[in-house]
Amino acid sequence: MTYKIAVLGGDGIGVEVTEQSVRVLDKIASISDMDFEYEYYLVGGASIDKYGIPLRPEDFEKIAKCDNVLLGAVGGTKWDNLPSEIRPEQALFKLRGGLQLFANLRPIILFDELSDECLLKKGVGNGLDILIIRELTGGIYFGKKWRDGDTAHDTMTYSVSEVERIVKVAIEMAKLRKNNIISVDKANVLESSRLWREVFEGMMSKTCGIEYSNLLVDNAAMQLIRNPKMFDVMVTSNLFGDILSDEASMLTGSIGMLPSASLGDGSKGMYEPVHGSAPDIAGRGIANPIASILSVGMMLRYSFKRIELADKVDNAVKSALKQGARCADLVTNTPLSTKEMGDVILSYIV
Ligand code: IPM
Ligand code: MN
Repeated sequence: MTYKIAVLGGDGIGVEVTEQSVRVLDKIASISDMDFEYEYYLVGGASIDKYGIPLRPEDFEKIAKCDNVLLGAVGGTKWDNLPSEIRPEQALFKLRGGLQLFANLRPIILFDELSDECLLKKGVGNGLDILIIRELTGGIYFGKKWRDGDTAHDTMTYSVSEVERIVKVAIEMAKLRKNNIISVDKANVLESSRLWREVFEGMMSKTCGIEYSNLLVDNAAMQLIRNPKMFDVMVTSNLFGDILSDEASMLTGSIGMLPSASLGDGSKGMYEPVHGSAPDIAGRGIANPIASILSVGMMLRYSFKRIELADKVDNAVKSALKQGARCADLVTNTPLSTKEMGDVILSYIV
């Protein structure tokens, strides 16, 4: 069976790491009954430079027809002073919102081989395995924004159905893991958080076999550092999930290790590293492609339901780490280039 993958490298290192992920997909095709056809589109700054807008509507239509989306990263200092409607990030929001990818899965895993890289006291992070589930198409990111005079407004809105569908995902995921969900909100201050908490508690009280609790986001930020292993599945809103996942990335040694999947109701997903376009190291071929490659693993797992192939990708990354393969985000002495890391990982996919 041939699947169409929209490849959107975007800007900076996004393009470089995505190149390695396409090689991984090709390797998977060579050892399985799957086949991939790639359609390349410009998004973000690259699209602004060529077409004047971050994502052309006609490109969005074609991307929407693909089975899955592999995204690199968008943005860079070059486009920082553009008006908000044509900033590179708008491409992301159009894709997330337009494809209704409301559930963003961000696994926070400290690989045994990297346990010395965890920034916490020795041992505190060992064996860490958290799944952050970030609501991705609502909240303050998508609320009405406006200015009047010298005042600026952003609105944070959540509806019952928006909370229900993300909590449903959290429940499904928790059942595949350690049956524990912590919902993170700011219910002592925000009305949208009070609604979020009501819906969460209502649903959980009717769900058997899953332990659950609520944490305020400021406390959650602290607990992630104090006792990260208290988290199994964390479910939270768009903004809090954005911030907490960057914080949590440091528990894994490098944000260059963090993949993500953005899912909706169907099997279509968008898969991208959590890291950004890193203009400071772009164009040098030194970025760590692991986050992007692990995102391919998530595509095989969640969209294609090919668990055995997803495991092959994950295990290849582990084997590469075990043999000492590191990029410049994790070592200063003779790091591997982006392509060399790709080569090592490919060699373990058999
Ligand atoms: C992320 C990024 C984006 C976000 C930016 C680039 C708009 O930080 O995917 O985490 O805030 O969602
Ligand atoms: Mn972010």
